Amino acid sequence: MRVTNRLSRQLRASGRDDHRRAERSPYLAALVEGSLDRDGYAAMVAQHYFIYEVLEQAAAVMRADPVVGPFVTDRLTRLPALERDLRFLLGPGWRSAIGPGPATDRYTARMREVCFDWNGGFLAHHYTRYLGDLSGGRYIAEAVRRAYTLTGSDGTEFYVFDGIPDPAGFKETYRALLDATDWPDDERDRIMAELRIAYQLNIDVLDDLESAVRERAA
Ligand code: HEM
Repeated sequence: MRVTNRLSRQLRASGRDDHRRAERSPYLAALVEGSLDRDGYAAMVAQHYFIYEVLEQAAAVMRADPVVGPFVTDRLTRLPALERDLRFLLGPGWRSAIGPGPATDRYTARMREVCFDWNGGFLAHHYTRYLGDLSGGRYIAEAVRRAYTLTGSDGTEFYVFDGIPDPAGFKETYRALLDATDWPDDERDRIMAELRIAYQLNIDVLDDLESAVRERAA
């Protein structure tokens, strides 16, 4: 296979512009520069809870798929960490204190539609979240800890992958798995289209969070 034809390269290239937009979202900018408060941060953790609930239900199903099953590992599972973060940030009544926003509802509906019986769709969503969490996620965690005086991993366990001490090595292995897949071009095109949808849904969730911050400030 030509190097330029690698699925890992194709995903990165197809997502580059959307990644830039996601990274520069006003909510994330405010979060990392410390101009929100802990509740403003907790609001994102709550939306992650609903997103990972569905993504990880899909992972449980896709674990048995011959092509994408190898991408599924308990080392990535985030839901228990999100529950602990929410308990820390919002207290024991956290579950009844949170609800999905409109963009989160669209995001989870989309995942229910494409991640449970289409392996390529699942992979697009899996890649978008977990490779991001293992990359920029670490930077976000440091900034959040500093800005909102969180110590250790209290409230930021989501960003701590105990089973992945070497994220760069893990991502390398993940990319090798991507490059070992053998989807035809038209299927790859569908996966790239789903990747862009996944990025857009994440941007929409961040925009909802930004609107909520502005409403609270008004
Ligand atoms: C402050 C916000 C963010 C920062 C600073 C950031 C930073 C980064 C960096 C530095 C990488 C490259 C890692 C590498 O080459 O191994 C990366 C990769 C990635 N990020 Fe982000 N990111 C942010 C937000 C996001 C968001 C919101 C998403 C989507 C939900 C996302 C998804 C991804 C993905 C899928 C990759 C892997 C790209 C690849 O294949 O190499 N990132 N990010």
